Amino acid sequence: MEYTTLGSTGMSVSKIALGCMSFGTGEPWMLDGDDARELIERAIDLGVNFFDTANVYSNGESEAILGDVLGEYDRDEQVVATKVRFSYGDSHPNADGLSRKTIEQELQHSLDRLGMETIDLYQTHRVDPETPIETTLRTMDDLISRGKIRHIGTSSMWAHQLAERLRTAERLDLPRFETMQNHYHPAYREDERDLLPITERENMGVIPWGPLGQGFLARPFDRLEATERGDPENYHNPTPEYVEGGGKEINERVQELAEEKGVTMAQIALAWQFENEYVTAPIVGTTSIQHLEEAVEALEIDLTDSEMNYLDAPYEPQPVMAID
Ligand SMILES: NC(=O)c1ccc[n+]([C@@H]2O[C@H](COP(=O)([O-])OP(=O)(O)OC[C@H]3O[C@@H](n4cnc5c(N)ncnc54)[C@H](OP(=O)(O)O)[C@@H]3O)[C@@H](O)[C@H]2O)c1
Repeated sequence: MEYTTLGSTGMSVSKIALGCMSFGTGEPWMLDGDDARELIERAIDLGVNFFDTANVYSNGESEAILGDVLGEYDRDEQVVATKVRFSYGDSHPNADGLSRKTIEQELQHSLDRLGMETIDLYQTHRVDPETPIETTLRTMDDLISRGKIRHIGTSSMWAHQLAERLRTAERLDLPRFETMQNHYHPAYREDERDLLPITERENMGVIPWGPLGQGFLARPFDRLEATERGDPENYHNPTPEYVEGGGKEINERVQELAEEKGVTMAQIALAWQFENEYVTAPIVGTTSIQHLEEAVEALEIDLTDSEMNYLDAPYEPQPVMAID
């Protein structure tokens, strides 16, 4: 495994974060019980020390599964990230959002499920237009002081929203978001225009979600629906939007390079992430030990500038997705 520094947090994280959205029983493509445990244990064996979950994933089951496994390891060795914003389970008017009440309640639920005293990276899961940024940041400041969380991060938003959040933190001397979890892969590069230059300038850790295009870049274009998760009945993968942005040709080029190098398409898509100047560590979502091992092996693939350009060339701007 290779390790890198997570932006201004100074924490050392594996160059692959394990995405835990696929753990639980909420959907047919998810992994539960002993199978999920085996996958997390294999990730730790391979040197993964960075785990991303959320209160909302499978109604809290993902956090409970992760906490159950990590509880058997030395907590000091793991960097655990979770998120708050969306409601789940039995909803009520204060179950979602980024108010002080919701954040404090939800953080306690997350800590209980994870069986931990502190979250290393607590992320706002997109924006809450109803709560002033100042209220959210003051709450986070108190939670850091109380030792409940160590650092704060955030997720997909418009560049102007990120700039406003960073400016508010600076103006009021409050903690600032130190990481950005955004939607970014070869077939979706809208954030290169504005958001990523800000993260670079501000020394934020960039941890893309959906680094394999949520499966779009992991297999040939005509076989996208071959898996449970690829079935549009089971998961909304924005394939038509990716295709509008040159995605079909990008998918073919990923396939072509994979054949040339004797590796899998997923490995080429991940090698693109590892070569990318903005990215700290992609958050890989998988339910397969073999796919996890392939992800780690992809760290050894070098893509030349001309191969990176070849993958990038067909891309065309497309509508910005998944902000709210
Ligand atoms: N902040 C946000 O709003 C947000 C949104 C979505 C996700 N996330 C985070 O990002 C993580 C990853 O996102 P994601 O799961 O949507 O996207 P992803 O990692 O791009 O794609 C996962 C899909 O790719 C497949 N895959 C993975 N490795 C493969 C391989 N080697 N060969 C073939 N197929 C492979 C997986 O199937 P298998 O299971 O069969 O391997 C799965 O269907 C999540 O777990 C979550 O932590 C955050």
